[in-house]
Amino acid sequence: MPKVIFVCTGNTCRSPMAEHLFRRIIDEDSDLKGKWEISSAGIAALPGQGPSKYAIKVLKDEGIDINEHLSRQLDEKLVKEADLILTMTGAHKEMVLQIDPEARDKVFTLKEFAGIKNDLDIADPFGQSEEVYQEVRDEIKAHLKEVIGKRKQFFLEEGKKRKIKNTYYRRDGNLKIAIGCDHAGYAIKKEITDLLEEEGFAYTDFGTDSSESVDYPDFAYKVASGVASGQFDRGILICGTGIGMSIAANKVKGIRAALCHDVFSARATRNHNNSNVLTMGSRVIGAGLAREIVRVWLGAEFDGGRHQRRIDKIELIERGEYRENE
Ligand code: RB5
Repeated sequence: MPKVIFVCTGNTCRSPMAEHLFRRIIDEDSDLKGKWEISSAGIAALPGQGPSKYAIKVLKDEGIDINEHLSRQLDEKLVKEADLILTMTGAHKEMVLQIDPEARDKVFTLKEFAGIKNDLDIADPFGQSEEVYQEVRDEIKAHLKEVIGKRKQFFLEEGKKRKIKNTYYRRDGNLKIAIGCDHAGYAIKKEITDLLEEEGFAYTDFGTDSSESVDYPDFAYKVASGVASGQFDRGILICGTGIGMSIAANKVKGIRAALCHDVFSARATRNHNNSNVLTMGSRVIGAGLAREIVRVWLGAEFDGGRHQRRIDKIELIERGEYRENE
């Protein structure tokens, strides 16, 4: 029988609520009843814990008893056995992919799988009031219903025949990328160039090529000026904090460099700021997260519209032509 696993942090609030709400939705659907094995797990669970008291209460209000639920830790075996993994946040999704990068085609955030494009996280109600738990329950329920509304065929076909496009990892192999780092970012740059090769991106590596001390503005300038001139579509810069690279790159006219240490910001800065340079700090995040950030940032599109107006204002500031209240 195909398996779906809902994933959150501790497997005591959001994911058990999702598991049990989804089980009821499936049970009430005569086409799907009994066809999927539904469970949940946590990225950082203390195994054997009961659900939080308000999770129990707000599901009881729905006529669902989750008293028997015991938390469990997500591990590689569970990830490998699953046909579909629905996480509560983008960070959970990244962590699933750190457990097993091959899970890429079957792990989605719940909201992403429900067809939502932005703001893909369901906030953690842990330690908050009953009202917050009610809101989270209703949010999860609504998205589960959307999932079935939009993807019933996927569930009817046991998740096998139909490949769902994973919006986090849309590729654009035509992008030309410039990449650079200082001594502090050298090791992560290697990880990122490996990723670019795996994903089929054309890139030029402007160095540095060792962990011998260098000055980050020298590399920021090479990458940023390559992007500003149009020779490259995007730039990626890594130093210890990502901050020096970001400050330096943003001094080059036409550059919108974004320092990102989480995938939400990486996506949002493409959607809203049309950022053309990504900077990261190797002393802040590890290689796994840096790779996910790059994937998301390269795959995300600019939304245009009102965001273009704001970028136009940034360009006026850059040219010294911006006037307040105009
Ligand atoms: C180098 O030690 C460090 O200052 C640099 O990598 C970067 O973090 C600057 O912002």
